[in-house]
Amino acid sequence: MIRFALPKGRLAELSADLLKQCGVDTSVLERDTRRLVLESADKKYGFFLVKPADVPVYVESGVADLGIAGKDTLIEEGRDLYEMLDLGIGKCRLCIAGYPSRSDVLTNAHLRVATKYVNTARRVFADRGEEIEIIPLHGSIELAPVTGLADVILDVVQTGSTLKANGLVVLEEVFPAITARLVANKVSLKTGADEILPLIGRLREAIL
Ligand code: PRP
Repeated sequence: MIRFALPKGRLAELSADLLKQCGVDTSVLERDTRRLVLESADKKYGFFLVKPADVPVYVESGVADLGIAGKDTLIEEGRDLYEMLDLGIGKCRLCIAGYPSRSDVLTNAHLRVATKYVNTARRVFADRGEEIEIIPLHGSIELAPVTGLADVILDVVQTGSTLKANGLVVLEEVFPAITARLVANKVSLKTGADEILPLIGRLREAIL
């Protein structure tokens, strides 16, 4: 059995569609259930439904053989796994955003940056030689500058509508080409090569 760690949320449906195109029986994923461990009817595939940020830890540990995770999450988590394919779904950008009227805010001596990408923020600003205060949040990041909790945010921008609805703009693009990737556990790729490699081949063809 190939065990997948699949992200819940906005990548869930796109991921299931892609796997279905490659002959994976995903009908169990279409049912409305609170169960987090699912199996295809033919028992060839197991699915763990996890928070997107947790996909890399399931794959690195070997609990899952394969996973689908955003490049943003992979950069943030820095886990020891193989990135096999750019699946081209879930396109977005990782950006620094804030108020347009305060575009010089990035030169602040003590910049307060709200983000769920704490490690990435630390690296990005350290590379620029800037000391910042990181304000770790788990969601609704745009609220931080609006309420005065932070000066700017480091977050993903997909359609831009959340920024716009809150009067914020992109001040700088940090990673312009974020997409979902297929990741593999290093040991599984060796021991399960007979099953896993053909599936990766079918996925590669599906995304061409
Ligand atoms: C993400 C991200 C932004 C928003 C960007 O949040 O953190 O808030 O999506 O998308 P947009 O450019 O299409 O508006 P998500 O919806 O995952 O929820 P969260 O606030 O719980 O992190």
